[in-house]
Amino acid sequence: MKVWLDGGIVEEELARIPVTDHGFLYGDGIFEGMRVYHRKLFRLEDHLTRLATAARALKLEIPGGIGGARKAALETARAFDRDEAYLRLIVSRGEGSLGVDPTTCPRARLVCIADEVRIYPEEKMRAGISLITSSWRRPPADVLDPRVKSLNYLNNAMAKLEARQCGADEALMLNAAGHIAEASVANLFAVREGTLLTPPATDGALEGITRRSLLELAAEEGLPAEQRSIGRFDLFAASEVFLTGSGARIVPVGSLDGREIGGAARPVMEQLSDAFERLTKEAGTPLGG
Ligand SMILES: Cc1ncc(COP(=O)(O)O)c(C=O)c1O
Repeated sequence: MKVWLDGGIVEEELARIPVTDHGFLYGDGIFEGMRVYHRKLFRLEDHLTRLATAARALKLEIPGGIGGARKAALETARAFDRDEAYLRLIVSRGEGSLGVDPTTCPRARLVCIADEVRIYPEEKMRAGISLITSSWRRPPADVLDPRVKSLNYLNNAMAKLEARQCGADEALMLNAAGHIAEASVANLFAVREGTLLTPPATDGALEGITRRSLLELAAEEGLPAEQRSIGRFDLFAASEVFLTGSGARIVPVGSLDGREIGGAARPVMEQLSDAFERLTKEAGTPLGG
């Protein structure tokens, strides 16, 4: 693991956050999860744009601005020095009083961590993971907008815990209206009658960068795709269901609530996975070296 904290790479044992940081006390902050593929940082500028938008939504000042965040991400990835890596970029509100008031925090804090991450075991990445429908709903935008990638992941963590306690790999999260939003840390796609479907972000999903990449690749590959509200029935009727995320990557789903979904063949997911693999080789910010 490599950690960048308050201006540079620090020894892992010295990478500590003060207890009065409002990221710790209140989950007041934002983050990005990114990946290095083939020594290239994938869609760095898209991640920085999403981070900047979240910062604006929460009136949070990124230390050093977007340039500071870009520098931290690249320096951490270079220090980790691997062909493949997961990068976590975090901006917390910083140290302040014990009260919730963000105006008591004069300086936001920028942290970047590079490490390996594997969300599901390799055999599940091939065979398909199991989902349960969580009783934890994604909050509506006027409560806590799921499009802001904030440090408030309690809702997601509780959904994941519920799934694990039920013996499943992952949670399917619905919005307050009962439409599918996403999984705990990944977007969802289904294929129905040859059309790729994914819920619109306004149904309670993060505007995922892997999701957007796959929608762009689907257009290039001539695969029909729609962003529209879907329910559990659409997943039972689907020929393929899969999840996407920087941490998770592209993950087939084998069952939902104890029912097998999709078939053993996943031609659309495979076509898109191949196109995505090619994209990760061609695109991205090179780490050099
Ligand atoms: C809640 C949530 N949804 C979806 C995603 C996928 O987004 P991205 O593809 O940008 O990583 C993530 C992040 O990994 C997430 O935390």
